[in-house]
Amino acid sequence: MAADVALSQALAYARDLRNLYEVTRAREQEVERARDKLRAAYQQSLTYAVDLKKTHRKLQSSILQSLLGLANALEAKDEYTRGHSDRVATLARRLALAAGLGAREVVTIAQSGLLHDLGKIAVPERILRKAGPLTDDEWQVMRRHPLTGAQIVAPLEFFADGALIVRHHHERHDGSGYPDGLSGETIPVGARIIAIADVYDALTSDRPYRRALDHRGAHERMTAEADHTLDGRLLGIFFDKVIDAPPGPSGRD
Ligand SMILES: [Fe+2]
Repeated sequence: MAADVALSQALAYARDLRNLYEVTRAREQEVERARDKLRAAYQQSLTYAVDLKKTHRKLQSSILQSLLGLANALEAKDEYTRGHSDRVATLARRLALAAGLGAREVVTIAQSGLLHDLGKIAVPERILRKAGPLTDDEWQVMRRHPLTGAQIVAPLEFFADGALIVRHHHERHDGSGYPDGLSGETIPVGARIIAIADVYDALTSDRPYRRALDHRGAHERMTAEADHTLDGRLLGIFFDKVIDAPPGPSGRD
């Protein structure tokens, strides 16, 4: 009799244990399924993040393209500045390459060359096209254009270095430039390069107030500025390897 009781108790325990095992097993499977779902959701969100980043990047580069178009349109209105930024960009790219800068930096410098005077969009035409010398007040307005240009390109995160180049393209080696009075190597190298290309193109182009200098005249004038207003080392490379360089097989670009 006692043996029967013990046996039925043992069977009851065994059933309980089996039930417990099945419940636990079912929970484990549930947890496993939940983990799979979570993993899939995580993968999906990673894919979304990558897509979003790509879209953001595309959007930013199409904004940059629009700004390049705007800069071009701004210059095209004036016969004296037409093509100036294009020429500055080409010279700056060649100087950056000759100075041994990296490919990405060269691209940013060339794009900054195209955009360097975009801030002039905020300068009234009567000042931009004035034939005679500017008054002090007019100069003050004119000297804001590097800051305005940098503010216009500031939302382009991937162009942060370009924004700095635009901001500092009128700084001078000896600290007498604007807007921040930076000097020497504290001026971003891209801005020092644009300054040289900008001055060369300005000197060799007609302006309402003077005729263009020839290459020799520009060389003389700029060499006198070496390590005064312009970076002497970069200026040396400019005249040795960029401007005086013999044309390659396909000619100068
Ligand atoms: Fe400028």
